Amino acid sequence: MLPGAAAALLCAALVLYGLRMDAVLQRGLSLPAARSVASMDETALLLRSIVPPLAAGKHKGQDGRIGVVGGCQEYTGAPYFAAISALKVGADLSHVFCAREAAPVIKSYSPELIVHPVLDSPNAVQEVDKWLPRLHALVVGPGLGREDRLLGNVQGILEASKARGIPVVIDADGLWLVAQQPALVRGYHKALLTPNQAEFSRLHEAVLGGPVDSEDRAGSVLRLSQALGNVTVVQKGERDVISDGQQVLLCSHEGSGRRCGGQGDLLSGSLGVLVHWALLAEPEKTNGSNPLLLAALGACTLTRQCNRQAFQKYGRSTTTTDLIAEVGSAFRALFET
Ligand SMILES: *[C@@H]1O[C@H](CO)[C@@H](O)[C@H](O)[C@H]1NC(C)=O
Ligand SMILES: *[C@@H]1O[C@H](CO)[C@@H](O)[C@H](O)[C@H]1NC(C)=O
Repeated sequence: MLPGAAAALLCAALVLYGLRMDAVLQRGLSLPAARSVASMDETALLLRSIVPPLAAGKHKGQDGRIGVVGGCQEYTGAPYFAAISALKVGADLSHVFCAREAAPVIKSYSPELIVHPVLDSPNAVQEVDKWLPRLHALVVGPGLGREDRLLGNVQGILEASKARGIPVVIDADGLWLVAQQPALVRGYHKALLTPNQAEFSRLHEAVLGGPVDSEDRAGSVLRLSQALGNVTVVQKGERDVISDGQQVLLCSHEGSGRRCGGQGDLLSGSLGVLVHWALLAEPEKTNGSNPLLLAALGACTLTRQCNRQAFQKYGRSTTTTDLIAEVGSAFRALFET
């Protein structure tokens, strides 16, 4: 069980149009009682209510312009996966800001992405900053690598995004940067970190100065979020653990045993869109729940559903491309039925 967890512990399992969803919601101990997501079926309803309707009167860009910051000489798949996932979930435009050498490769994967070869240029921060007023969310880190020059530029991009109040999802080597400089995100309420186990341990060590208590994952995620001034932390694992420093949500929606590289990019890309929609929704639509938590739970559930559907078709040979091909039907089944 989750030691240190005093207050309300709600466990709900429901059958939702044949899809099983489980979640445990736990309020952080001795914290002011925030209005909380009451149960998983209510959460599913709230998630549905934040999805903007497809209406004829809309113009291009209204449902989301997302930027992915990453892509270097070695890694070109991850930023592509994140950016294409954002489009498949329903963003209208998806940009990639990558190193010069990565750009032609990423462009050749897809004519649907807008690719800017600026990330290793001396004026990278200004180049990206020009676009920021037109972007609704940034996903920072897929395929970023650890080269100092790129990381230095990404630091500037994060600072510029904060100054403009743009939500940022940080993953992969973006988290490596945050572990070196936690001040980059501390107290920024529109930051979401999506660490896997190894990235979580590194952050935990850097921010809290000790190893993770493996018996108390929920508490560890809650404490890391609080120590970073309540940024939203999404720890990916057998169950995904999500906290905003106040509540802890566990997502154990059924996926499969298959873990292919790239699944995290589907999560971060879709989270970029969902966080924009959740922040845009009228407060009555989120019913007092933290929109970032709702978005995180939505992205985790969607990623697992894609995994499950793809695995049913391809079993052991399932890859991220197969997961992404399921986004449309998984999204419909979860959030639009
Ligand atoms: C909205 O919040 C109220 C009060 O907390 C609760 O009674 C109601 O069930 C919530 N509705 C949804 C859809 O979450
Ligand atoms: C984080 O949230 C907790 C619980 O609401 C609150 O007590 C604390 O002051 C918050 N910290 C920051 C830096 O906002």
